[in-house]
Amino acid sequence: MTSLAHNQPMTPNFEALRAEFPSLQQEVNGKPLVYLDNGASTQKPQAVIDAIAHYYTHDNSNVHRGVHTLSQRATDQFENARKKVQGFLNAREDAEIIFTSGTTESINLVAHSFVHAFCEAGDEVVITAMEHHSNIVPWQLLEQQIGIKLVVAPINKKGEVVFDDFKASLSERTKLVAVTQLSNALGTITPLKEMTEAAHAIGAKVLVDGAQAVAHLSVDVQALDVDFYAFSGHKIFAPTGVGVLYGKRELLDAMPPYKAGGDMIKVVSFSGTTFNDLPHKFEAGTPNIAGVIGLAAGIDYVQAIGLNNIAAYEHDLLNYATNQLEKIDGLNMIGTAAKKSSILSFQIEGVHASDLGTLLDHQGVAIRVGHHCAMPVMEFFGVDATARASLAFYNNQADIDTLVAALNKALNILR
Ligand code: ALA
Repeated sequence: MTSLAHNQPMTPNFEALRAEFPSLQQEVNGKPLVYLDNGASTQKPQAVIDAIAHYYTHDNSNVHRGVHTLSQRATDQFENARKKVQGFLNAREDAEIIFTSGTTESINLVAHSFVHAFCEAGDEVVITAMEHHSNIVPWQLLEQQIGIKLVVAPINKKGEVVFDDFKASLSERTKLVAVTQLSNALGTITPLKEMTEAAHAIGAKVLVDGAQAVAHLSVDVQALDVDFYAFSGHKIFAPTGVGVLYGKRELLDAMPPYKAGGDMIKVVSFSGTTFNDLPHKFEAGTPNIAGVIGLAAGIDYVQAIGLNNIAAYEHDLLNYATNQLEKIDGLNMIGTAAKKSSILSFQIEGVHASDLGTLLDHQGVAIRVGHHCAMPVMEFFGVDATARASLAFYNNQADIDTLVAALNKALNILR
């Protein structure tokens, strides 16, 4: 990392960092792009783009399969990326890091190889009422397939977990608590450590959906003591199609493979097959090598800035944005948790979110509108959709001012 913006990690120059994202330097519909859809996917810094281009230009080859130089280079970079992720999450060992296609696949891996493999009819998986569909539907499939029961811990009108209600949702049949760290629809930060302690006290394991959290909060899986942690590359300034499942070794060792194919085996014969050691047991087939290398570059990038610096900067920006948006007549913020990060989900009386999204796009402002893959959250708050502005460290107060001006202009047309 050679940019000037990174030379002072204690006081990052966020304006200079923004200049390192080529896609942010464009006009959309004749206006400078204001990108506020980071919850859906983040933009990529030049360093990540360069890492991927370098791999394809110089080192492109398969991993774990060749004695030739290119394959060894690719393998080294791939396995160094695993060590990078280990350090990023503070996992005990790199074998606890499984590369997947993203958070959704990571959760499905746990559904298949932990819940389907070890649970029986009547066993319970507890989630919260603010989960993304990818942390709801895998458990519903298992309700149909093996008769487990999905239990939903309620949230309050601010969009917070009510800890006593959460504890009341646990029982002697609870085998897994699967919970987001940062709600994509509300911005709520959940009390993971306390929830994990309560789950462990009754013998349940904990899976965290970290998709929204990793670009905004420092994560330490050992300090949290969670059993599984899932996240996606594309939400942390890295490519799509790559993600991670962290799991404690004793669990991953005991779990059967998720997919079958090359690289996840030691010996194959028609009389039987022995599976490979961790982490390869869970990585069948040629992986997304360029994606993994890009993920390592994305992690390098945020670590050079410092997650705590990012969290502090975004905290102030979220407060500024909340205050400015709440001045708009008829705007209702959906998700007002005391502990929140990066997400501003709102609804404006008499106006449909999709109309707002379209009129904002005409002014170069990108937000997401809809149910945000969290339809039960919409139902709970009595709306069918919200408009959602979601922040990254490259956003600034001027972006928020542009958003507010664009919203006011849209409202003049729509009302
Ligand atoms: N889960 C992503 C979002 O919140 C796609 O937009």
